[in-house]
Amino acid sequence: MAVDPDANKLREQANSQFKVIPTAEQVIADKKLTVEQIDLGKQLFFEPRLSKSQIISCNSCHSLGTGGSDNIRTSIGHGWQKGPRNSPTVLNAVFNGAQFWDGRAKDLAEQAKGPVQASVEMNATPKYVEDVLRSIPEYSEMFKKAFPGTQHPISFDNMAKALEAFESTLVTPHSKFDQFLTGKNTLNNLELKGMEHFMNKGCVACHSGINVGGQGYFPFGVVKKPGADILPVSDRGRYMVTKTATDDYVFRAGPLRNIALTPPYFHSGEVWDLEEAVAIMGTSQLGTTLAEDEIKAITAFLHTLTGEQPKVEYPTLPRRRPQTPKPGE
Ligand code: HEM
Ligand code: HEM
Repeated sequence: MAVDPDANKLREQANSQFKVIPTAEQVIADKKLTVEQIDLGKQLFFEPRLSKSQIISCNSCHSLGTGGSDNIRTSIGHGWQKGPRNSPTVLNAVFNGAQFWDGRAKDLAEQAKGPVQASVEMNATPKYVEDVLRSIPEYSEMFKKAFPGTQHPISFDNMAKALEAFESTLVTPHSKFDQFLTGKNTLNNLELKGMEHFMNKGCVACHSGINVGGQGYFPFGVVKKPGADILPVSDRGRYMVTKTATDDYVFRAGPLRNIALTPPYFHSGEVWDLEEAVAIMGTSQLGTTLAEDEIKAITAFLHTLTGEQPKVEYPTLPRRRPQTPKPGE
């Protein structure tokens, strides 16, 4: 007969591997963010005029209504171009060790300058963005208040800083998992069993800490490389950043918070079913074929990582003026 998992013992072990997600208020206090910076960042997150076409905003690919991602295989950007990678969630991204599947940006402010300029994403230039923002008087006011005492408050750098401030508030506390860590008996036996497997079979070696991942880099296929249908040969991960042979097909271990909300999975976005993603991790990273009941339990555990979604009121954006640059092709 199966023995019920010992919740208290597992809680102790889990608390040594993971960390409870703080609330937005705690993050705001820690980072000393101001309301003015956060409000400006929120407006910019939803501002399609940061893109050359003026129809693509951060929220197009990181929709806050759908777990902070777009739920398609790989993102679609400027001119309906398909990008090479699946869009990771912006929720809790503030807790990642580095940003992007290959960790090429060190923080959210550095990250935010990427998509605005990427030709397959928003296809704009810093000058274009600054011209748009300077043409709209409401933005002059908002930047002045968000960055007081600076000579040129409207700048591409300050745009990125404001976006970082807003994104830092996009945290999802109070998941069943977090409540369990703090002492409540919120997990059922199947979920507890899944957590036990997750820790004792070795997933936790790569997916630990506050975001249950998002920290270290590992070859996708430590033990056995998945097929080219899941790991396309053209995307060599961190190798493309460092040009070091040992970084070939190395990626950041995905943060698993809210993972149930953000299919499809992996940087290629080729796997839609979370159970299948778990099974693939078993063979590719652990060299084990997980049993059906183990896969089901681990998947049930992963569902407990879904936290309270941030409540974000859609901002009313200021109107364009005659001098505002027109959308470009
Ligand atoms: C990655 C924010 C616009 C698609 C990211 C990440 C963040 C982010 C924080 C890293 C998350 C992580 O590594 O866990 C933003 C902001 C945007 C923006 C603030 C607006 C300025 C867009 C747009 C698209 C897009 C418009 C789609 C056209 C992606 C993709 C990645 C990504 C595909 C992964 C890229 C890679 O790893 O190489 N974004 N994003 N993002 N975003 Fe965005
Ligand atoms: C990605 C779960 C073990 C490294 C993922 C994803 C899931 C997952 C669900 C997809 C994340 C997403 O698409 O956003 C698990 C489970 C494991 C396990 C349940 C145990 C059975 C490991 C181990 C390592 C590892 C041991 C390191 C040796 C990675 C990496 C990725 C990833 C590098 C990103 C792959 C990519 O490029 O798409 N994991 N994982 N995982 N995991 Fe694991």
